[in-house]
Formats: sequence, structure tokens, C-alpha cells
Amino acid sequence: MTDEIQVRQCVDGDLAALEATEPPGAGIARNLLKHQAAGTVVYVAAWREHQPAGTVVLDLVSDHTPELKHLFVQQSARGAGIGTALCAWTESYAEKSGFNKLYLSVGAENDGARRLYKRLGFTPLGRSTTTTYQYVDDDGRKQWATETDEVFEKALTD
Ligand SMILES: CC(C)(COP(=O)(O)OP(=O)(O)OC[C@H]1O[C@@H](n2cnc3c(N)ncnc32)[C@H](O)[C@@H]1OP(=O)(O)O)[C@@H](O)C(=O)NCCC(=O)NCCS
Repeated sequence: MTDEIQVRQCVDGDLAALEATEPPGAGIARNLLKHQAAGTVVYVAAWREHQPAGTVVLDLVSDHTPELKHLFVQQSARGAGIGTALCAWTESYAEKSGFNKLYLSVGAENDGARRLYKRLGFTPLGRSTTTTYQYVDDDGRKQWATETDEVFEKALTD
């Protein structure tokens, strides 16, 4: 449940715990901590009993800055408000940093995420982005994927 969850910015000492949730050799957490050290992203996790139950990234240098990216909740932890808590933390961080809008991109077929974002007050901007990216699948194999996402925005201040 949400009251046992602590949402906070990741630090270098979290690397091993974060890597344990990744496919072998993916290097996702290592890479994000490197970008965070360079000041281009804020890397956030929801912790339950010292294990990351979900993560999200606030990108400070994307085409739509600031952009909430890579929201992911472990399968077994879904439907308990963790995705909502990660979005709320990110929103509040962006607002405190002086931004008056928050952006994100979501696939047209990703009904669960679209429902979550709409419930949180994000609305479609009427713009799409197509990205081709490489990822490591659950068996540690590199794969390519192309995805068309719709851009959503939310005003943080009136
Ligand atoms: C999309 C995703 C991040 C949602 O995470 P989540 O932790 O399940 O999100 P929440 O629990 O906050 O909300 C999901 C549902 O739980 C319900 N819920 C929220 N808080 C709750 C609580 N305290 N108790 C019970 N249910 C709750 C919500 O009403 C919501 O219901 P709905 O989907 O029918 O609208 C998760 O499914 C995921 O990681 N998906 C794969 C990756 C992905 O698609 N990411 C988005 C990329 S754009």
C-alpha cells in the first residue's frame, strides 16, 4: 500500500538495488545515475522495504522540457497507487524548480498509462513523436523498437 512506500531521488548508493530489477547487462540505472550527476535528469524511485517498486525520470533537456519519462512500476506492485505517487513527486519537484508545465509522451495503445495521466490532469497537446530506440529484453538480448507517442501536458501553476 502507498503508506509503506517512500518516493525519493535516487543516489549512487542505490545502484545495486536498482540494477537487481533490470534485465542482465541493461545498464539502465548506471546510465541514469550518470546523467543525473551531469544535471540532465532527476532519477526517482518508489521504495518498499528497501527495494525499488517503481521508477520515473524527469528529463530536463528534452524537446518538451521538463518531461516525465520512463515511468515503470514492477508488475507485482501495480494498482496500489505507486505510479500515481511517482507522478505526484515528479510534478511537485518540477513545480518547486520553477517550471509551470510538465510534459510526457504516451503510446496510443497504452490504455493503463493514458488513464493514469488523464486522471492526474494531463491533456493531449495534439502532437506526436516517433522514436526508434534500442533496449535489452528480459533475456538480456538487444532489440530495436519504434514507437509513436502522443505528447501530453499539464499546467503546474495558474
Ligand atoms: C502505467 C503504470 C506506471 C501504472 O502504475 P501503477 O502503480 O499501477 O499506477 P496506480 O496504482 O497509481 O494506478 C493504477 C490503478 O490503480 C488504482 N489505484 C490507485 N491507487 C490505488 C490504491 N491506493 N489502492 C488501490 N488501487 C489504487 C487506480 O485507480 C488505477 O486504476 P485504473 O488503472 O483502473 O485507472 C504501470 O502499469 C506500468 O509500469 N506499466 C508499464 C510501463 C508503462 O506503460 N509506463 C508508462 C509509459 S508512458
